[in-house]
Amino acid sequence: MKLKNKVAFVTGGTSGIGLETAKLFQAEGAHVVLVGSNEARLAAAGEELKGKALLVRADIRKVADIERAVEETRARFGHIDVVFANAGATTVAPLEAVTEEYVADNLALNFTGTFFTIQKTAPIIAQGGSIIVTTSFLNTIGYPGLSILAATKAATRSLVRTLGAELAPRGIRVNAVSPGAIATPFYSKMGLPDDVLSQVASGITEKIGLKRFGEPVELAKTVLFLASDDSSYTTGAELVVDGGLTQF
Ligand SMILES: NC(=O)c1ccc[n+]([C@@H]2O[C@H](COP(=O)([O-])OP(=O)(O)OC[C@H]3O[C@@H](n4cnc5c(N)ncnc54)[C@H](OP(=O)(O)O)[C@@H]3O)[C@@H](O)[C@H]2O)c1
Repeated sequence: MKLKNKVAFVTGGTSGIGLETAKLFQAEGAHVVLVGSNEARLAAAGEELKGKALLVRADIRKVADIERAVEETRARFGHIDVVFANAGATTVAPLEAVTEEYVADNLALNFTGTFFTIQKTAPIIAQGGSIIVTTSFLNTIGYPGLSILAATKAATRSLVRTLGAELAPRGIRVNAVSPGAIATPFYSKMGLPDDVLSQVASGITEKIGLKRFGEPVELAKTVLFLASDDSSYTTGAELVVDGGLTQF
């Protein structure tokens, strides 16, 4: 068991990559704290984790919610060993459709929320702890309609280096996992009609070296590597899990 008795704090844990990772963490012996904003999805995810996870409803866009989630975790477990800062979402907006509110909302969830997840958990992360941030293939390649999400992901990639440097003296490692196109509910939440969505999916599949979408479990295994002592000498890095999408 790679995470026996470790405490893992997972945001965006109710669905897709986060849920699959939470299940793998639990199978590897971790106590899981599952954070999500949607009550029904949180309850359903809790059942998938056999009722053993601490479920915390929190909107990552609100710093007070993150503080409450961390306080509930401290009250139950006293400390954290692994943080998976993974919550994220967006809708498609080409240049002319981007508004001030759209930028603010995307920043709040995909960048500021990630930053404060790290800032608020850091004081109770144990020596030897590990923080993993979910970035994206969009931080290296351009894709129409996703300018603001891509910029937030590039910013979080940058955070991993700076906060990795700040936390290294405490023996805490900070890394990123960069997904390519992964089969999760992420796409169905982007505000695109089904026919456009399937055109987008086949367009992306064509560009992927392995010619298929990735499965959430393929991300989860990489996150487990970064969370565990198997990656004890890796910090400030971004591991790419994208079937070759950004490599060739
Ligand atoms: N799927 C891909 O192809 C892909 C590619 C590159 C990067 N990523 C990144 O991977 C991460 C996980 O995405 P996914 O593909 O697994 O999508 P997903 O299945 O839609 O999961 C997104 C998670 O984020 C949570 N979330 C959304 N808004 C939130 C908020 N305001 N407060 C708290 N939690 C919130 C959702 O929880 P609730 O439902 O409870 O709100 C859900 O658990 C994201 O950061 C995404 O940008 C995904």
